[in-house]
Amino acid sequence: MTPIIAPSLLAADFARLAEAAQAVHADADWLHVDVMDYHFVPNLTIGLPVVQSLRAATDHPLDCHLMIEAPERWAVGYAEAGAYNVSFHVEAAADPIALAKNLRAAGAKAGLAVDRDTPIEPYLELLPHFDTLLIMTIKAGFGGQKFMPEMLDKVRTARRHADAEGLQIRVEVDGGIAADTIEQAAEAGADAFVAGTAVFGAVDPADACRRLRALVG
Ligand code: DX5
Ligand code: ZN
Repeated sequence: MTPIIAPSLLAADFARLAEAAQAVHADADWLHVDVMDYHFVPNLTIGLPVVQSLRAATDHPLDCHLMIEAPERWAVGYAEAGAYNVSFHVEAAADPIALAKNLRAAGAKAGLAVDRDTPIEPYLELLPHFDTLLIMTIKAGFGGQKFMPEMLDKVRTARRHADAEGLQIRVEVDGGIAADTIEQAAEAGADAFVAGTAVFGAVDPADACRRLRALVG
């Protein structure tokens, strides 16, 4: 599948999110929106009202990454708000398959996210129910951390499994993705790339997107 570049607004100025979206308008495929609740991760970011406002402010597909507890209570609201893809963490979900079905019924793609300390093997059997698999290449919670190449074994395992089973699932990597790490993630089988610091920490975010795309395109 064509590689997806998904700049993460976590690294943008939260008082200027619409401007950040505008800055990468022509060069980003999805906008990655990190939702954190102070419970699943020790950080608090943005919630549904901001996603609703973003939906009105940009026509980018919104890739909502829910780092929250009890996703069954909140995730469908993001689909109803117009998110393109809603990823929730397998560590937090009581019934991932039921939630995936509910997200799809609400018109969104369903995403399963796997944090740094979680192995992938026990969850491979869930993949037929999902459109995206987000593999953290850092510990979820904060931007600007160092990429962990050892996480790419999970990407390889997931990609091998998906290919063997004929699953049309995107494998997304999130954390420390930059010009010096994106190629190894692509070689491992990732085809969607979240980048926060590498895009919005750059002087020219649009150019940063183009550079990342050129490395995997
Ligand atoms: C962190 C978030 C990431 C974050 C990545 O938990 O899920 O999406 O924005 O930031 P960078 O690209 O700076 O590692
Ligand atoms: Zn994220």
